[in-house]
Formats: sequence, C-alpha cells, structure tokens
Amino acid sequence: MSSPPVDTGPTVPAGFAAALIAWQRLYGRNGLPWQHTRDPYVVWLSEVMLQQTQVSTVLTYFPRFLSRFPDVRSLAEAENDEVMALWSGLGYYSRARNLHRCAQVVVAEHGGEFPRSAVALATLPGIGSSTAAAIAAFCHGERVSIVDGNVRRVLSRLLAFSGDLSLASAQKELGLLAQALVPKNTAGDDMTAYTQGLMDLGATVCTRSRPMCERCPVAHLCRARASGSTDQFPVKSRKIQRRHETWWLLLARMEQASGQVLWWLERRPARGIWAGLYCTPVFDSEASLLVNLAVAHRGQVRLLEPVSHSLTHRELRLQPMLVELVEPTAAVASGEGQWVPEGNLHAHGIPAPIRALLWAQAQQPVAAFQDPEPAR
Ligand code: ADE
Repeated sequence: MSSPPVDTGPTVPAGFAAALIAWQRLYGRNGLPWQHTRDPYVVWLSEVMLQQTQVSTVLTYFPRFLSRFPDVRSLAEAENDEVMALWSGLGYYSRARNLHRCAQVVVAEHGGEFPRSAVALATLPGIGSSTAAAIAAFCHGERVSIVDGNVRRVLSRLLAFSGDLSLASAQKELGLLAQALVPKNTAGDDMTAYTQGLMDLGATVCTRSRPMCERCPVAHLCRARASGSTDQFPVKSRKIQRRHETWWLLLARMEQASGQVLWWLERRPARGIWAGLYCTPVFDSEASLLVNLAVAHRGQVRLLEPVSHSLTHRELRLQPMLVELVEPTAAVASGEGQWVPEGNLHAHGIPAPIRALLWAQAQQPVAAFQDPEPAR
C-alpha cells in the first residue's frame, strides 16, 4: 500500500534566479551611490537608512552622513547628539541610536571590522536578519536571501504562498522558501544582482497595488499571475492598528533685541516616540498647554493650522500653538527645556514634522505675527 502524498508546500520554480539576475543587470537600479562597493560600513549604513525609507530620501542623507562619518571608527567616537542631528528628518530614530551603538560594538568587540557572515552580523544592534543578509550578499557574495516586506510580497505572489504573514510561523516558512530560491552556483557579483533584483522587482514592478506583470521577468513562473490572483497576496489577517491622538505643541518663540530668534525645545524622554530627540513641549490638551505655559500673560498665543503625521502605531494630529515671548525665561512652568537659536536648529536632532513647523514659522516675517490693533 502506498503512503499518502506528503504536502511539502509550494515548490520553488526553476529558472527564477537566472531570470531575475539577467533582468536586474539590464533594468534594475545600478547607479546608486552605495552600490559598486564591498565596504561593509558603506553598505551597512545605506541598508539601515533604506529600512522603511525611500531611496529618493536616502539619496540626500547618505552622502552628508558619510562625509561627516567616513568610517566606523569616526561614527563610534561621535557624540550621540551629532548622530541624531544628521539623522533628523529620516524618521524611525531607533535606527540612528542602534547605528551608533553598533559602530561602538564593531570597534570595541570586533577590532573595527564588521563580521562577515549574515548570522554573525545579525547579532549586532539594529541589524535584523534581512539587513544582515543584504550586507553579507553585497559585500561577500554569501548565498543568503533577504526577506523584507517587499520581498515577502514578491515571493508570496510567485509561489501563491497562502500562509498568513501576520504569523511568525508563516514568515519563517516563507524565509525557508526564499533561501531555496537563492541561485545554487554563483559567480562574480551574481549575489549582488540577485539581492538587488529582489528589491528592485518589489519596488518597481511587483508593487502593492496594480503590479506591472507585463514588465516582470518572472511573470511566466508566477503562480498568482497564472490564477489571476496577484491582489490576493500576500495574505495578512492582521493589519496594523493606528491609534488616533491629538498632540498640542507649544511653539514658543522669542526675538531678542539683537534680532536673534530663539525657539524653546525640550529633550524627549529616553523611551517612547521620538525618544531622545529635541522637540517643542507636547501636551495632550489645549487646557494642559495653557496651564503649563509659564508666561502666557506676556505673550500672544495663536492657534496654527494642524498637521497630520503617521507613525507605525499612531495617527497623530499635531496642533501647534505659537507663543511670542519677550523675555528669555523658561517658556514652561516646569522650566524643562532650553532656548535654541534659530540658526542652530540644524545641529539638533528634531523630528521631521516639528522641524517643518518651526521652519514654516521661521520663514514668516515677525510682523505677520502681530495681531491687528483691536477695533475701537
Ligand atoms: N531597500 C533596502 N535596501 C535597498 C537597496 N539596497 N536598494 C534599494 N532599496 C533598498
């Protein structure tokens, strides 16, 4: 009697890696400033910046960061405030804190050389398994697969993978399939083209909505395409829930007799949203802001247009209140914070939406803030 067939899950299609590599060399992204190097420091820095951030944004931050910190030792020795200031605006600031810590660990525990294997890289602060795989594949040609969000989408369509990717077990299963797809025999920079090809395909062709299957080099192998169901993959039962909150921001501004403009900023707590960054004081209600304002009677308070800002788990409505102070005393009753000259804001790590709000005010002539004389 024959035993029942064992369900081994989706098998991987032959020819995937070769088709992807050929396509990447012809049509992929090959002129980015962090490519064509095998320097692990440069590749690591770019990969950390590229986590959750678009290439177009990283293109402005990467050269600035690299020219200030050209190697792992210069970064390890830096003041954390300076690292945060150079990261300011990129978001997901735990990346910058981990980046700094990682540089210090590489110098203190690895003699200033990044470990070579993906497994060893993944033990370092801020380097997850996908980033570790990218560094090992790009720098050393290690046959290991990246599996970030874009790649999960590509592979779940290719294989019509029906596991629920909200679950760690399904993510692990897809990770094993990704590893089985890696080219068996690699030469030269095949692993670079393959790894970059996975990313490029996910970013430019196999997009979340309306994938451009007619341009896809592996459309003939794609099981979701064959069944007309690309929109059914990836399967995710749980979506991120974002809580809606209103944050009242105190934008306290002071113009000195010399004409120098100062803004009141305080350091965010070491844990939580925007941890350790400089920010305007934040309150959970208008009443709380007004109670905590130290010198309300001496200044003008005006409500500015609110702005929306999405974080991973929050949908923030930022409601700024601009206050003009006339003396350099503390802007809040608690006294926590400091006056920062407008010309020195760039040297502080400030969350992007706060920076944008301050900058928008900095563009306004002072007179624009004066309320008209009351009608008599
Ligand atoms: N996202 C993460 N790593 C990337 C890379 N090397 N190129 C483009 N996008 C990426």
